[in-house]
Amino acid sequence: MNAFPKTSALMARGCEFLGTEYAIMCGAMSWVSERNLVSAISNGGGFGVIACGAMTPDLLDAEIAATKAMTDKPFGVNLITMHPDLPDLIAVCAGHDVGHVVLAGGIPPKGSVEAIKAAGAKVIVFAPTLALAKKLLRSGADALVIEGMEAGGHIGPVSTSVLAQEFLPALSEEHVVFVAGGIGRGEAMAGYLEMGASGVQLGTRFACATESIAHPDFKKAFFRANARDAVASVQVDARLPVIPVRALKNKGTEEFTAKQREVAGVLDREEIAMAEAQLQIEHYWAGALRRAVVDGDVENGSLMAGQSVGMVKEEEPAAEIIAKLMAESEAALGGRRAA
Ligand SMILES: Cc1cc2nc3c(=O)[nH]c(=O)nc-3n(C[C@H](O)[C@H](O)[C@H](O)COP(=O)(O)O)c2cc1C
Repeated sequence: MNAFPKTSALMARGCEFLGTEYAIMCGAMSWVSERNLVSAISNGGGFGVIACGAMTPDLLDAEIAATKAMTDKPFGVNLITMHPDLPDLIAVCAGHDVGHVVLAGGIPPKGSVEAIKAAGAKVIVFAPTLALAKKLLRSGADALVIEGMEAGGHIGPVSTSVLAQEFLPALSEEHVVFVAGGIGRGEAMAGYLEMGASGVQLGTRFACATESIAHPDFKKAFFRANARDAVASVQVDARLPVIPVRALKNKGTEEFTAKQREVAGVLDREEIAMAEAQLQIEHYWAGALRRAVVDGDVENGSLMAGQSVGMVKEEEPAAEIIAKLMAESEAALGGRRAA
């Protein structure tokens, strides 16, 4: 018997789309979402997604093979649209018969959606505006993730609750839409499902799962943090566009602001060109997440985290987190009480 009948009924379309027991995706997190966490999520009935990030095609190939060895359940691969080897990465996914490819980080370049679909996989995209969402769905994307500014990592300017009100009534009848950003408990998940979402995507809540390889000090920083500690980076100069990143405030976030001022000053004195200035800003952050996740440098590294971080209190197996979310949702929908 299904222990979560009301939630499962609302998730039916999302589960069918993903091929899972529950329509709960663990959003790709660079350095965190590798074979161990991805397989644990999928084995727990959710949908794990490998974060390709800046991996080369060979590294992605090895990561997919290793993940397949740890689970026979469906999982996806998240590719960053501006990766210089995007066509090769798509080919690697096709070679492994990956069922779902998530395109993140910008508008999918021409031909990428078609290339993924030609290999038989489904394409999941992000869209910051309703107009762009409609365009992407019209031109072949199979599902959409809307992600609010409560989320960890790179963020847009609008909150999840507002995006949900704008997008779900307009799209959810015809399309599969997943809601992400700020979901820490099952009650919130139930709310978005009732509004028409086919499923949800969480990152922060899963980053410290027992199976996550994140450094123990990275996890400790999450357990100690409150919602208000997960702040968005600020852009200090209009000429230097910086996509905001939500992360726990530390020396690294302060230094990032100082670095922007320094580069803006050099730009004022016309000592470097704009492109070089922007590159310096990007390079500054490159590797910062790795320093925190892999090396445990929680002072200078980037502790990307969403506002739901205050609800992350201890290590728990991924399957238990998923089961808790389902129980909380079911209770909220008037079914069985959550434990
Ligand atoms: C540590 C961390 C790293 C992330 N890295 C990526 C990434 O590489 N690519 C991506 O598309 N999203 C990334 N995200 C966003 C997540 O996939 C997910 O959409 C987000 O965490 C959901 O919001 P939540 O944090 O409020 O649960 C990252 C989030 C975190 C917390």
